[in-house]
Amino acid sequence: MRVDGRDVVATPGISVAAALLAAGIVVLRRSPAGDTPRGAFCLMGVCQECTVLIEGRAERACMIAVRDGIAVSLRGPHAE
Ligand code: FES
Repeated sequence: MRVDGRDVVATPGISVAAALLAAGIVVLRRSPAGDTPRGAFCLMGVCQECTVLIEGRAERACMIAVRDGIAVSLRGPHAE
């Protein structure tokens, strides 16, 4: 898995959110209002706190499985 251009070791089939947490990456984005750090909360697709860019699309990281070469950006859909 590639995270912001860095290789991160992850087991294929687990969720991207779980892989990020296992790698010690807990802040997944900043909130658009207030610029506060946000990270995975429910881990079951409900809260959307884990939204990141996966292959350039805004996705809930807890609902997407890791696969070889998957590209994740923590800049988030609200960056810029
Ligand atoms: S952690 Fe809540 S939707 Fe992913």
